[in-house]
Parts: sequence; C-alpha cells; structure tokens
Amino acid sequence: MCGIVGYVSKKQNAVQVLIEGLKSLEYRGYDSAGIAFNNNGKMKIVKVKGKVNVLNEKVKNLKGNVGIGHTRWATHGAPNEINAHPHKVGNVTIVHNGIIENYKEIKKELEKEGIKFKSETDTEVVAGLISFIYKNNENKLETLKEVSLKIKGSFALGIIFDDENETIYALRKDSPLIIALGENENYIASDVPAILSFTNKFILLEKDEIAKITYKKINIYNKKLSEITKPVLTYEGTKESVMKNGFDHFMLKEIYDEPKVIENILQSYCFDYNIKTLENKFGSFLKYNKINIVACGSAMHAGLVGKSIIENEANVPVEVFLASEYRYNKVFNDKKTLTILISQSGETADTLAALRKAKKDGSDTLGIINVVGSSIARESGRVIYIKAGSEIAVATTKAYQAQVFILMLLSILISYQKGNITLEKANKLLKEFKKFPKEIEAIINDRDNYLKIAERIYKQEDIFFIGRKVDYFLCQEGSLKLKEISYIHSEAYAAGELKHGTISLVKENTPVIGVITDKLIDEKTVSNIKETVARGADVLIVTTDELYDKYKTDKFYSNIVIIPKTNVYKRPILAIIPLQLIAYEVAKLRGESIDQPRNLAKSVTVE
Ligand code: F6R
Repeated sequence: MCGIVGYVSKKQNAVQVLIEGLKSLEYRGYDSAGIAFNNNGKMKIVKVKGKVNVLNEKVKNLKGNVGIGHTRWATHGAPNEINAHPHKVGNVTIVHNGIIENYKEIKKELEKEGIKFKSETDTEVVAGLISFIYKNNENKLETLKEVSLKIKGSFALGIIFDDENETIYALRKDSPLIIALGENENYIASDVPAILSFTNKFILLEKDEIAKITYKKINIYNKKLSEITKPVLTYEGTKESVMKNGFDHFMLKEIYDEPKVIENILQSYCFDYNIKTLENKFGSFLKYNKINIVACGSAMHAGLVGKSIIENEANVPVEVFLASEYRYNKVFNDKKTLTILISQSGETADTLAALRKAKKDGSDTLGIINVVGSSIARESGRVIYIKAGSEIAVATTKAYQAQVFILMLLSILISYQKGNITLEKANKLLKEFKKFPKEIEAIINDRDNYLKIAERIYKQEDIFFIGRKVDYFLCQEGSLKLKEISYIHSEAYAAGELKHGTISLVKENTPVIGVITDKLIDEKTVSNIKETVARGADVLIVTTDELYDKYKTDKFYSNIVIIPKTNVYKRPILAIIPLQLIAYEVAKLRGESIDQPRNLAKSVTVE
C-alpha cells in the first residue's frame, strides 16, 4: 500500500539513504513522497506530490543523520503535499503504512483537546494521539502500547520524538515492517528491497511488537513491554535479483525470470522428480474431500486455473472465492475442507481476513505465498512458498506463474494420494517437467510475434478475450494484465456467453483474442469466435501446434500464437506467456508507466 523506510546513524547521509530506500519501495505506492530528518538537531520535513525523483530534486543537497521516509498510495485524502507523509503533531513525527479505521472518532476527541490537524489523513491523527498521550505520561514505550490498543485497523509506524531525535521507534500490527542491521547504522523498512544496497541482515517485527532503534542498539518489546530477543535473518537473494538487470522494465525482467522460478520450485520441492520427495515437502491431503481457494486479482485467477486442473485430474471439488466476498458471505466449511489462501505479498488485507475466517470456521488452511514471513504465511496452518523471488512490477507475472505451478504439483500429489494415479505415473508426470524451464524460455523468446500483435491492437479502446474452461480462466488473467497496464478497456468472456449480451459491443475491427488450447472443446470455441468474425471482429488466437494443424486452412484469424502440444499441467503456464507479453508490448507502445500503473499498488493492505 505505502512504503516506509527509516535510517539511524552517526553519519550525515540519512537523506541519500532514505531516497534510495524509497526508490526501491515505489512499487508499493507512488502518488506522493516525503522524508523527515534530523537537520542540525531539528526535524525538517520535505514532502512532494509525485514520485521519489521529484522529492530527490528538493532534498539532494540536504544532510541529516536520522530520518524516516514514505512513499504513498492515497487512501484517506487526495494525493497532495499536505496529505503526504511524514506527519508531525506536537513533538512527534511519523510515517505510516496501513489504514486506521477509527481515526474519525479519535480525531474528534483530540480536536476537543485543542489539537489542530492540517491534512485529511488518518496518519496525522495517529501522530496527534501519540503526541497527546506522551505529553501526559512521558514514557515512550507505554505511550506506544496505549496507542496500539486504541487504534483499530492495520498499521506499521515509524516514529521520531523531538526530545530523542537520534532514535526511531517502530510499531506494527498488520502491515509488514523489518528492522535491518548495519554497522553503526540501522534501518526500518516495509520490505527487503529498500535495504539491500546497504545490508541483507534483518529482523522481522511481528504483530504488536515495538522496537527502539539507535545507531548501535535495537531493543524489541512484546505487547506487555517485556524485552524480547528475535532471530536475525539473512536475505538470500542479491541486490541484482531485485534490480532490472538491463531490462527496460521490471515487468519484462520478471517475465524473463519465469523459467528460473519454475526451476527453483522443482529444485526446492522435487529435485529428483520423485512424488515421495514432493509428498515429504507438501504433506498429506488425503483427508480433504473439498478445497476452497481464496485470493484476490491475479492470485484468484491462478486459483481458477488450479481448480480446473485439480477437479479434472485429481477429482476433488474446488470452489474459488474472491477474498473480499468470501469474508462477508456464508461459506460451508468443515474439517474435511482445506482452505487455500494464495497471495504473492502475503499481506493482502482481504485474503488475510479470509484466512482468519476460515480458521474460525474450523477449516484447515494452507498459504501459497511468495514473501517469506509475511502475515498470511505466518498465520496459515501450513505454508508452501512459491520461491519466485522479489516481484517489483505492480502487475504480477512470475509470481502468478509460480502460484499456478505449485497448484499443478499439488494436483499431481493429490491424485497420487487419493489413488487416482500410481506412483509410477506420478513420477512420470513429474519427469515431464525436466525440460519445462526451457519450454517456457522458448515461448518468451517469440517476442517479434507479440510485438506484431501489439502493433495491430494498441490503438484500440475495447478488447475482448474469449475461451472455454481453463482457457476462459487464462482469458481473465490476460484481460486483467492488458487493462491494468495499458488502460485499454478489456473484458474476458466464456466463449459461449458472449452472445447473451456482450457481442453487441463487437463491431468492425474490434480485437477479439481467442484462447483455444483444449482439444476437447476447441470446435465450440472456434464457432463462438466465428460469430464475432461475422460482426467484423479482428481475431487473434493463442492455440497449440496440434490445433493449428486443424485450423491452418480455415483462416478466421488475422494473427496467431502457437504453443507446443503438451500436457494439461504445463499448457496453462505456457499459454499465458503470450498474453503477458502482448500486454507489456501494448502498454509500451502506448507509452504507459508499465511498472507502476496509475491508481494501483503492489501490496493491498487495506480492505
Ligand atoms: C494484478 C495483480 C493483483 C494481485 C492481487 C493480489 O497483476 O498483481 O491482482 O494479484 O492484488 O495480490 P497478492 O497476491 O499479493 O495477494
């Protein structure tokens, strides 16, 4: 949602460190930014509307040794300089990631006490509350404890008090926060990329913990304010793994990472292509006779692809829910239902709430998560990490693929555990993944074709994606990818449903992208595609070489992407790559901000 960073040292380089940290966190929000730092003993605050580069122009010649910074994705109040963080009330300056649900009530109480607020934000109210409580009891830890009991919602806070302005206090509930360790310098940040230029050692601050950080000491307290010791973790990736590595955009780099991610998953969970090894890592699923998958956005689309394969191949019913709906609807859960939560960030507010609801209902839970130690990972009954590495582009690509691949492995394992397939068959299926990374690479490398298609459609304002069964789910993901980064309106339809209304929107030259990879249903989809051709649609298809042989003389399409004939587990992963890359090329031709599309943020920690 927002990115926060903090730095304490004896050197006068805080401003540069904060700017560098914020640049790495811009994927979390980028409509405004600001820093507060100790400048010759006084807190100086500089804020701007816009990106961190704009902020950098204003502060590049300034110096300080301790400071906090923030890059914002607006929730309360427009993105402007006044609403940007840090916020200072009295002698307290703070940055905040999350959302405070009861800020209006608190604001009223504080206004009665004579405190005046300048912004429309919930964050300024928290600064006011800290300042007010601290004035009365003068004990910082007790103040922060009282504040965390009083505010409702999700938050991670970085705080500097004027009377101790060489120390940062940090406090977290549901939003992520790490404390990173340097030599005679320490940091706080929302995520690891912010500190990787300086150190890879960090401590995960957990729910209700408070930290006091100076340049030489870190003290951490639990909610009873007893001091606790926490393990120091080492981030195993390199700075390069979270950099663009020469690619124009993170999104493109991350699509090129896909073969490596699949390789990583294979190495981590079944390096010997033996189902027993996979079983050892993933555990038993024998007792479940139903699976509920809960997620948001692309992670939900990954769940839909998983549903299609698990139902057809493992013969277990799967229901897929949008987390934002799941949490408020009646859901039928029992001890034989497994609830799977899929989330790249592991911090998505709705998915986290759904997890808590599933647990309360007595369902076993499994998190399929990328970010190690994230809230959903920690609270899930068991967790399978997708091993995708840092994903920076707001539009997910490699993490989505990793989520789908984990579900494919799970499907094979469940089939084996339920006795639908023999051990030999399961091992044979796993061995078919040996060359999978190379097959993915080959599809990625067909860039010229994707560019040609993008050039044909990038000036359009409405695009339709149609397919049936798993192809329909791929259409949903392809359509989301295209619209979120190119701002072209696009919709995904089950091919047979189009004529029940939406086909009225198809006119001369309207692009229709047909996904036809399932040979049990291809003819039906082709008939539906031809209905759009009859209304003037310009049709592009993604299909397999096997089906291409069937349709090569029946040219109802103007452009074609061909993926190799392969098994049901690999096909959805291969078929989405052209859609990811077409979306990328279209957005690039339109000159859009590909890695940071308007109005979006990488990690959605508000409801
Ligand atoms: C779209 C996209 C989003 C996320 C969704 C869930 O490209 O990235 O739709 O998939 O916000 O996020 P996570 O996986 O972090 O829970």
